[in-house]
Amino acid sequence: MSATYFKYIILGGGVAAGYAAREFASLGLCPGELAIISKEAVAPYERPALSKAYLFPEGAARLPGFHTCVGSGGERLPPEWYGEKGIELILNTLIVKVDLAQKTLESSSGNIFKCGTLIIATGATFIKLTDFGVQGADAKGIYYLREIDDADALIEGIHEKPGGKAVIVGGGYIGLELAADLIINKLDVTMVYPEPWCMPRLFTAEIAAFYEGYYQSKGVKIVKGTVATGFESDASGHVNLVKLKDGRELSADIVVVGVGARPLVSLFKGQLEEEKGGIKVDSFFQTSVSGVYAVGDVATFPLKLYNENRRVEHVDHARKSAIQAVQHIKATEEGKSIPEYDYLPYFYSRSFDLSWQFYGDNVGDSVVFGQTDPSVPKAKFGAYWIKDEKVVGAFLENGTPDENKAIAKVARLQPTVESKEALCASGLDFASKM
Ligand code: FDA
Ligand code: NAD
Repeated sequence: MSATYFKYIILGGGVAAGYAAREFASLGLCPGELAIISKEAVAPYERPALSKAYLFPEGAARLPGFHTCVGSGGERLPPEWYGEKGIELILNTLIVKVDLAQKTLESSSGNIFKCGTLIIATGATFIKLTDFGVQGADAKGIYYLREIDDADALIEGIHEKPGGKAVIVGGGYIGLELAADLIINKLDVTMVYPEPWCMPRLFTAEIAAFYEGYYQSKGVKIVKGTVATGFESDASGHVNLVKLKDGRELSADIVVVGVGARPLVSLFKGQLEEEKGGIKVDSFFQTSVSGVYAVGDVATFPLKLYNENRRVEHVDHARKSAIQAVQHIKATEEGKSIPEYDYLPYFYSRSFDLSWQFYGDNVGDSVVFGQTDPSVPKAKFGAYWIKDEKVVGAFLENGTPDENKAIAKVARLQPTVESKEALCASGLDFASKM
């Protein structure tokens, strides 16, 4: 079969793809030069909506409302936009084979695509409990969440079990955001996670205590320090029981699992350099193969601020890395150069009426300031992380846009602090006065 040629192909149709397409269009693109190939059925959208307003029982977010690039306050790109710009959206197309040296891609139905420059934007997928051989984990009624189809299946599951018992396995981002969604959907929710507190990859014990207390006040039951080791099902194969390692058993009508993500790199194994589970790239998101870039969740990139290569699984980096790669592609064509990627890590989450932002690095000692009593309405509190007497990370719950900007500035500038006590006493003022 002959190959369909494009000057540029973006493999993957998620967040990074949408922002890359917009950058190509703004820097100059001829019709027919760019194709996005995605296994999803819809044009790129802001994935974070799936674990938030998409699952609301009333007034839920629906496409085309959250196509990229609305998430960062930009113009929304509905499917027609791609047509107007002459960008080929090749949807419902799973790529199963890639030859990076030849820059050819083969789909599951045997179509061959070839390009001059390839941007890998395949993102990540959920880790499944069946991957660890958890007994009964393939039962009906056990849900994961990555793509819009997963969210639709979950909504159907919620509708089938009104008022039912839900068990959430995992205490990270998915666990916390989905526990809130299911409470709002009037399910009886229990969270189970192995660590002593939720969101351990970011939260300190004190920060976590606030969110756990708040969730409990909304009716979420929390079981910590244990894992799901097996599931039992009814005669129709639908889950009805979760067995825990500590011997306890939880009845369940629905189970949602969020035990981490795995970058989708297997198509490229042995063809390029990898590091820390991702595709190793330079400050312009070029991989070790000429003319091949990797952006978003799959890329392990130089985090200049910390002089270290890292992979980041968050939306802000997906957007910015895509823009950086496209700017580099276009600049190189014109014989120009662009500055290196100089990223300040930024993570956020929203659930119930809570909303936090974090900037920088959560290493070293930490101090917490403000109102950490979850029973106080609209409590505002924050934290700083201090390493080598410098503030390297900052967290704020319920901040205003200006306050969030202030904590971002602190994390970027890394000011020196006299003492933890003084920092704790000045709290948010420390950031606001910078
Ligand atoms: P992304 O996953 O967005 O896109 C990858 C695309 O590639 C998908 O369309 C996929 O189908 C496609 N693909 C993969 N393999 C393919 C193949 N072989 N052939 C064809 N297509 C293929 N972050 C944050 O900072 N704040 C938040 O609130 C949230 N919320 C959130 C909620 C949920 C439910 C999830 C799953 C994730 C988040 N995130 C987040 C993380 C954020 O969404 C994530 O970091 C970005 O979507 C990453 O963008 P990418 O474009 O790299 O991957
Ligand atoms: P995560 O890494 O945030 O959390 C995984 C959690 O799984 C751990 O904290 C732990 O509690 C739990 N866990 C691990 N092994 C377990 C086991 N065997 N049994 C029970 N629990 C176990 O991953 P996630 O919450 O699954 O999120 C998936 C992806 O989606 C990540 O890339 C994340 O960044 C992204 N996401 C981000 C946001 C956000 O930034 N607001 C929101 C949703 C999803």
